[in-house]
Amino acid sequence: MSSWAERIGLEHPVVQAGMGGGLSTAPLAAAVSAAGGLGTVGIMPPRAFSAELRAARALAAGRPVAANLLLPFLRRAHVRACVESGVTVVVLHGGFAPRVVATLRAAGIVVLQQVGTATEARRALADGVDGLIVQGLEAGGHTYAALPLRAALRAVRDEVPDRTPVLAAGGIVDGADVARVLAEGADAAVVGTRFLATEESRAHPGYKRALIDGSRTVDTLLFGFGWPMRHRVLVNAATDRWCRRDPRGPRAVRLLSAASGPLGRVLPLTVMELAARVQHPTIPVLTPGPPVAGGGPDRILRATALYAGQGVGRIGDVRPAAEVVRALASG
Ligand SMILES: Cc1cc2nc3c(=O)[nH]c(=O)nc-3n(C[C@H](O)[C@H](O)[C@H](O)COP(=O)(O)O)c2cc1C
Repeated sequence: MSSWAERIGLEHPVVQAGMGGGLSTAPLAAAVSAAGGLGTVGIMPPRAFSAELRAARALAAGRPVAANLLLPFLRRAHVRACVESGVTVVVLHGGFAPRVVATLRAAGIVVLQQVGTATEARRALADGVDGLIVQGLEAGGHTYAALPLRAALRAVRDEVPDRTPVLAAGGIVDGADVARVLAEGADAAVVGTRFLATEESRAHPGYKRALIDGSRTVDTLLFGFGWPMRHRVLVNAATDRWCRRDPRGPRAVRLLSAASGPLGRVLPLTVMELAARVQHPTIPVLTPGPPVAGGGPDRILRATALYAGQGVGRIGDVRPAAEVVRALASG
């Protein structure tokens, strides 16, 4: 057991990645925490975020709970919700925000930053974060990753002081994967896609089926309207249509996404979530909103971002999150 995980109060060095847009809410985060890992509530509109954080804390019965903040969508109310709900850890992703780091740390919260390279790791540490999550190219969702996880982990480990906690993310789906990253120097494993395929995740039922059936992912910019950051998704009708020549998507679509970046920062998250329901695979204006339970009929899966890491082909069932924690910790 790593000393970092012990210090945070975890039984197992297993962290469930915060998955935004309503995918990881209180039931999943609390189930992971109650099972001895660290569960994380993903970002959503501030009032709902605050309610989910409080619910997760109540359901986790005294175990540590984390919150995830996607910086492009951050409002002051999100930071307030983290402080007032009493979460133990906050993970930042999608940019840098030294003032947010200072506010959270002043409230006694452990702040981790997700990074892809040694340069970003240096920058995050200069901002004052307590630790880092290194994302490898295998990771699902939005990534900065430039190297496969093993190489990225080594590059960051070589760069930062020994005492800095460094967690590893990307393609981790079973106990052997967790054991491997710990042996390679990680303080804990951060796992997203495997926790999407659980009973407690709020992924659309068709999305959960796609995770079981699918294995092919693409690292793209296609679902970038409002947030032009690279992301790894399962292939679907939209990627089949628009990513055949270039996995990143057509140049015109990427230019439109780049121009739409400021729009994403001012639009409430709810607008992105609603837009995802009316997207169509033939119209390449595709937002990052993921398909969630109750979010529409199966046809929305053809044109929404089905975020998934490269380990997806090794996920064979939807299970209770506590069982997944145990399996991940058993390597
Ligand atoms: C569906 C999904 C949503 C994600 N959303 C977020 C997010 O809101 N914030 C964040 O920091 N990372 C997010 N990530 C990335 C994870 O933090 C983590 O890097 C990734 O899940 C690790 O790879 P894996 O999915 O192969 O386990 C997301 C990943 C997935 C699969």
